[in-house]
Amino acid sequence: MTTRILSGIRPTGHIHLGNYLGAIRSWVSMLNQVDECLFCIVDQHALTTAEDAKDLRKNTLTIAAAYIASGIDPIKNHIFVQSHVPYHTELAWYFNCITPMGWLSRMTQFKDKAGKNKDQAMTGLFVYPALMAADILVYKATHVPVGEDQKQHVELTRDIAQAFNNYVGAPVFPHPEPIIKGETARIMSLRDGTKKMSKSDPSDYSRIHLLDDNETIQLKIRKAKTDAEPIPGEIDGLQNRPEARNLLNLYAIFTSTSLEKVCQDFEGKLFSEFKLKLADATVAHLGPIREKMLELLADETSLLQYLKKGSDTANAVGSAHLKEVRQALNMV
Ligand code: AMP
Ligand code: TRP
Repeated sequence: MTTRILSGIRPTGHIHLGNYLGAIRSWVSMLNQVDECLFCIVDQHALTTAEDAKDLRKNTLTIAAAYIASGIDPIKNHIFVQSHVPYHTELAWYFNCITPMGWLSRMTQFKDKAGKNKDQAMTGLFVYPALMAADILVYKATHVPVGEDQKQHVELTRDIAQAFNNYVGAPVFPHPEPIIKGETARIMSLRDGTKKMSKSDPSDYSRIHLLDDNETIQLKIRKAKTDAEPIPGEIDGLQNRPEARNLLNLYAIFTSTSLEKVCQDFEGKLFSEFKLKLADATVAHLGPIREKMLELLADETSLLQYLKKGSDTANAVGSAHLKEVRQALNMV
């Protein structure tokens, strides 16, 4: 069986360290392990929350630059914009017709984003997961690397694939697997270790943006919330200390060591001292990515050419699969 990865990020707000570690970096680690990789910038998903859809063009290009600067070769892989491939929304419509409303109302992302007044929530926000299922299944992707928060949506995608296969009585779609990497699955806010780092947090100090300059990265880490205790010598000592755990975990990731080893190495030290080391490690890792992103963003023509190349392939695969879907649905 051909193994195919599909994943995507919404071009909303500032792309941050959580997106990079939870999603892009884990994609990069899988590039050589599968037959084909497709990475989408899901601009139509960004439209489901109007307040996030500002600066869509700029944010879309920034995400494309982040993918490439992080190590995704746009020639060997396919990087493209969702709205450049009309088959996503076509397939999403067919999925809307076989997906019970009860399945969609159980999605925690919908419940969080819709808030208390569900009647006022937009239809697009409600059917968001059907479009995400279409993003994945339009390519018959087999693996979907995402952060922990997207697991429920990928599981729903499997249910939708099965519901469609049952409906047409043929195994048209595979059941894609979510791939969630343990230590980077949930990077927490720098201001509150119980909340995930998120584009929608009103405080810029809660997250490190991929385009932050070195001084800003250092400042954000210096101001990151911690507690008054020194660093414990073992992981057990991090219980009920979410901010401490998050920072030590980031250091472990950037220096390619284990959290256990970081605890051992910094046992008894104060966070003020540790934060300087963490800032250095973060700048060393993110600095070159930012420089490459800026270089790519300065040459928009080349960036658009990479996206065109990606959507040409995506359209060819999507068109063939949609032909099969329409036939399975007995359309003329
Ligand atoms: P979004 O910003 O919601 O479009 O997320 C894009 C990707 O980044 C998804 O795979 C998310 O699961 C992942 N992601 C977002 N925030 C975090 C975080 N704080 N930690 C780990 N992964 C994240
Ligand atoms: N829902 C994802 C998020 O909020 C973004 C997304 C849309 C996605 N379509 C996708 C992720 C397909 C993986 C595969 O992060």
